[in-house]
Amino acid sequence: MKDSFGREITYLRLSVTERCNLRCRYCMPEDGVCKKLHDEMLTEDEMIMAVEAAAELGIKKLRITGGEPLVKKNILSICRRAAAVEGIREVCLTTNGTLLPTMAKELREAGVSRLNISLDTLDEDKYTHITRCGNFGNAMKGIEAAFEAGFERIKINTVLIGGFNDDEIIALAELTKKYPADVRFIELMPMTDNEEFGQAAYVPGTAVLEALPQLRELPNDDGVAKLYHLPGAKGNIGLISPVSSHFCGSCNRIRLTADGKLKPCLHSDQEYSIKGLDFEGMKKEIERSIMDKPSCHAPLSAAERSGAHRSMNRIGG
Ligand code: GTP
Ligand code: 5AD
Ligand code: SF4
Repeated sequence: MKDSFGREITYLRLSVTERCNLRCRYCMPEDGVCKKLHDEMLTEDEMIMAVEAAAELGIKKLRITGGEPLVKKNILSICRRAAAVEGIREVCLTTNGTLLPTMAKELREAGVSRLNISLDTLDEDKYTHITRCGNFGNAMKGIEAAFEAGFERIKINTVLIGGFNDDEIIALAELTKKYPADVRFIELMPMTDNEEFGQAAYVPGTAVLEALPQLRELPNDDGVAKLYHLPGAKGNIGLISPVSSHFCGSCNRIRLTADGKLKPCLHSDQEYSIKGLDFEGMKKEIERSIMDKPSCHAPLSAAERSGAHRSMNRIGG
């Protein structure tokens, strides 16, 4: 269905858990998530019912997010059931990749059609630093496992962080020569009050164009990234610029958090609870959240933090 500004809403981002096996500094507090009462979170049946209700309202693409979706015990069943919902054409998943070595094949069999994998650095020590606990080798094995399982059009997500990985733009972009994957550089969104990820850490997407003058511009696909190509590469380079050049005007998505809140906009604190509702109740709230979707979010900068009032792991990106 269309929202009140005429935007066709066809894409639902479903966060299945707030938990993660990593602790990326810009995303999550060090001590992880506070333990929530189990009955505050959506059950698997509620998630599927919400997907069914959303599909009746015109949602065609589902992206499963987290936290880290692969730490969810029943993730395969959620994917399998979601992929079978009438009207859902694509079930995609965003992951940090570290659990893919054992799960990639099963995810594909469960009906997941595409994977986006986060990778902020190619340096082992820096990887452990930014994730607070992760192992770089596991992330790379995860990317390999995704290809081996037959996934195509894999996208690697790199959050640009000044003083951390802005010296690796060329090396990360060159992954598109090694793999038939897209590498997307994402401007850091100011979600936390962590000073380390304030003004000094923000790098505009144009830094990628300066580092790689040989990039050739491509027509955009249906995603939020502006696309480019490195001569001789198998995949494309994407620039996702939510801070310097937001894409609200063509936004086609809504979000559902693991604790059952519909979020019509990533950067707004507007939330609509569907926890405990029946099918019709859920459908009504989804409709309401689409109609109430704001035209745009307030400007983002280090001084003007996101209005979401949730850390990224509690939204799903
Ligand atoms: P595709 O389906 O492959 O186009 O994926 P996607 O880019 O929609 O999803 P992904 O989970 O890979 O997100 C990539 C980056 O875009 C993350 O940093 C998200 O936080 C960010 N992002 C996704 N949707 C929005 C949005 O509506 N607004 C803003 N500002 N950022 C978004
Ligand atoms: N700014 C930009 N991207 C972010 N992500 C997590 N937090 C932020 C942030 N503050 C990215 C992750 C993952 C995707 C879901 O969102 O790196 O690739
Ligand atoms: Fe986990 Fe992804 Fe957040 Fe890192 S960015 S802590 S991998 S949810």
